[in-house]
Amino acid sequence: MKIAIIGQGYVGLTISSFAAEFFEVVGFDSNPKIVEQLNLGQSHIEGVDSLILSRWVKSGRYTATTAGSDINDCEIVIIAVPTPLTENRQPDLTYLESACKTIGENLKMSALVINESTSFPGTLRNFIKPAIEKYSSPQVDHLYAISPERVDPGRTDFNQKNTPRLYSGLTAEASVRTKEFYAKFCDNLIEVSSPEVAEAAKLFENTFRQVNIALVNEFAQIAHALGISVYETLDAANTKPYGFMKFNPSAGVGGHCIPVDPTYLAAVAEEHGAPATFIRRANEVNLEMSEYIVRRVIEDNGGNLQGKNVLVVGVAYKPNVADVRETAAELVIQHLRSQGAVVSWHDEVVGNWRGESSAPLQGADITVIVTKHDSVDEKKILASAPYVFDTTGKVKGAKGL
Ligand SMILES: NC(=O)c1ccc[n+]([C@@H]2O[C@H](COP(=O)([O-])OP(=O)(O)OC[C@H]3O[C@@H](n4cnc5c(N)ncnc54)[C@H](O)[C@@H]3O)[C@@H](O)[C@H]2O)c1
Repeated sequence: MKIAIIGQGYVGLTISSFAAEFFEVVGFDSNPKIVEQLNLGQSHIEGVDSLILSRWVKSGRYTATTAGSDINDCEIVIIAVPTPLTENRQPDLTYLESACKTIGENLKMSALVINESTSFPGTLRNFIKPAIEKYSSPQVDHLYAISPERVDPGRTDFNQKNTPRLYSGLTAEASVRTKEFYAKFCDNLIEVSSPEVAEAAKLFENTFRQVNIALVNEFAQIAHALGISVYETLDAANTKPYGFMKFNPSAGVGGHCIPVDPTYLAAVAEEHGAPATFIRRANEVNLEMSEYIVRRVIEDNGGNLQGKNVLVVGVAYKPNVADVRETAAELVIQHLRSQGAVVSWHDEVVGNWRGESSAPLQGADITVIVTKHDSVDEKKILASAPYVFDTTGKVKGAKGL
């Protein structure tokens, strides 16, 4: 069976690498550079091994393409394109719309279309299906289903095989075919009663994280004001064997999922006249954390950062990945610069970002650790400046939250 996966990023390429063992996979992506690299067997995603990818490319099990016509005889099409926020921080479904256009214009026979992109309840039924139908010939009647993706890039203990997966079709036949498909490479499939439940569950999972991260970020500020250690207090609370789950404070909340998905939930809630108070406030608390950190650094450095060389260590949104989407480092750097600091950053996993390159880990007046990759030596960080502020709680000997 030939399948197509629209979008070859973190989600799409990960699925491709698992599915290629059982199906012939066409990886469609609108970015020609990514496609060229993938066809050389070079993975651009942590967790997808280039050796495995090369094997699939050489054997013809996997081909990347920018040509929509290459998907025309696929029996299953999976959508894995970005669902970010607009500049006004509203849901942006333009990538999804363009993926639907590709599917509608090119799929010549009826297929099963599964959405893995995260979006608000009703997206499959009220947006994806009509958008595809707008571009397809009336003779083609697709089946539609949702199976929200739960991949956590860089994680090794949970993968496509052992992470339980929710799914639901718009029809019973779509649900049965979706289960058959994922059962090839996922051990635990959970059917829910409607696509809307699956869509909402995915948003709620990430909103749960966002709200709890905001709570612990607020608590870090309370603990500091009270003169107690936030980390010791959290460890103490975590000795309770039930009813508590530990989250760690940080410079904000990074990644394209945790800061973005709750806004999709808030937008749909407010559209239906329901409150989204916690979600909106949690987002604000997380965004304000960068300002709080800069305030703490200023307090410790004579009340002024004018002309000081500040090195930000780690600009990826989390350790051991090169992904900088919505990274908290961006706001930290912005606030430092607004205080007159001369800011550079060190992150060899990211390398280049916003026209700047990773600076050497040395010679600063002040170092602020935002993300600590495993490959970065703690001693070198501590030696990089006379004052080191650690927002991660990982580097002993540095000042911290
Ligand atoms: N990355 C994660 O950890 C994760 C986890 C769960 C869910 N998700 C969700 O999955 C979806 C995809 O996220 P991602 O992290 O894989 O994004 P990504 O940016 O890593 O990859 C998306 C890919 O889609 C391509 N693309 C964009 N528009 C396209 C189009 N119209 N046609 C074909 N290709 C197109 C881009 O070039 C890019 O390569 C999003 O909705 C995201 O919220 C992501």
